[in-house]
Amino acid sequence: MDCNSSENKATLVFATNNAHKLEEVRAIIGDRFEIKSLDDIGCHDDIPETADTLQGNALQKARYIKDKFGYDCFADDTGLICSALNGEPGVRSARYANDNNHEHDSEANMKLLLKNLSDKNDRSAYFMTVIALIYQGQTYTFNGVVNGVISHEKHGDGGFGYDPIFVPEGYDKTFAELGNEIKNTISHRARAVAKLDEFLKSC
Ligand code: IMP
Repeated sequence: MDCNSSENKATLVFATNNAHKLEEVRAIIGDRFEIKSLDDIGCHDDIPETADTLQGNALQKARYIKDKFGYDCFADDTGLICSALNGEPGVRSARYANDNNHEHDSEANMKLLLKNLSDKNDRSAYFMTVIALIYQGQTYTFNGVVNGVISHEKHGDGGFGYDPIFVPEGYDKTFAELGNEIKNTISHRARAVAKLDEFLKSC
């Protein structure tokens, strides 16, 4: 398969229905690949994410799509890792405040994280995104990291998840204050997608 042919684009499934993620990825590799979402392939399953690592979850999701639908595909998983909390919330970032909650409650997650860090001097943290790709019979993973610190309180209205309390290295504002334009150039996800892009260009 020639992945550089723009006339006859190969299909790659991105195992998500998150419109923001799809837009970001299509802007980068959409000229060479037709990026299909889970909806696009008729997958409405609750895909298991039961691994205890980000890489494990990303691989689990990508393998699920490959096994059940047969497409080459990639999946991502992201976590916020805090040094003073032995890596928490980590792989549990989405459900930190409530393990049984399928709806992601960002307010509750941030509140708990601020509480757990309230007596810690070390507020260093990083976001990590792992992308797992299954392509032409091989499996690959790509990591993107952004270092920073957790602020003492929330600042800003933009973004999602932990953005109002994460101050990336080199800045004095949170992701929520910095806005998507800056965030998308330095974020964990942008860095992982850049590596995926680099790899696919080398095909
Ligand atoms: P996911 O793997 O992309 O669904 O991310 C898991 C969880 O990590 C999300 O529910 C958010 O709480 C958090 N998260 C992921 N990416 C970001 C981000 O860019 N900013 C803030 N929080 C994020």
